[in-house]
Amino acid sequence: MMKAVYAGTFDPITYGHIDVIERAAKIFDEVVVAVAENKQKSPLLTLEKRVELTRQVISATNITVEPFTGLLVDFVAEKNISVILRGLRAVSDFDYEFQLASMNHKLAPQIETLFIPAAERSAFLSSSLVREILAMKGDIACFVPPQVIKVFDSLDSNK
Ligand code: COA
Repeated sequence: MMKAVYAGTFDPITYGHIDVIERAAKIFDEVVVAVAENKQKSPLLTLEKRVELTRQVISATNITVEPFTGLLVDFVAEKNISVILRGLRAVSDFDYEFQLASMNHKLAPQIETLFIPAAERSAFLSSSLVREILAMKGDIACFVPPQVIKVFDSLDSNK
């Protein structure tokens, strides 16, 4: 059984993330999508909401979605998994991703990081740009699934 963990903040999950997750699910027997609490990023959506949305937009049966707090390598090791997957978009991702992979490898040498190139159409997509467009009442329909838009609409109407 080849298993992998794909971790991120997913604030919100975009078509770019979904593309990486679904392609990974064709390569690995099981993919665990690990949704980070990530207090440093002060996420707009709660951890529970980000987990719920991620579950709603994922269809393959070999994908599970779980929240995690603390170190990613600890979560991965607890699951007895040895692969962390990351999506690589533009060259600008490389420095940060290389740093993350190297630090994680120092912390847990038994865990390897593998990269999946992001789809061309999401090469410059990011969750923070989606949030920025949304804050300025722009149309985010081509970046995120309808379930995400529905959640943002309900947040807006509760203001
Ligand atoms: N398509 C579109 N966008 C993508 C993408 C893709 N394929 N892949 C990544 N992105 C975007 C995300 O939307 C995000 O955008 P944002 O910064 O504007 O929100 C950005 O690229 C990177 O985010 P993401 O992939 O979600 O990762 P992250 O940097 O938010 O989270 C963790 C990284 C959670 C894996 C990392 O912080 C972590 O491991 N945290 C746990 C604590 C820990 O172990 N720390 C020690 C690390 S050595």
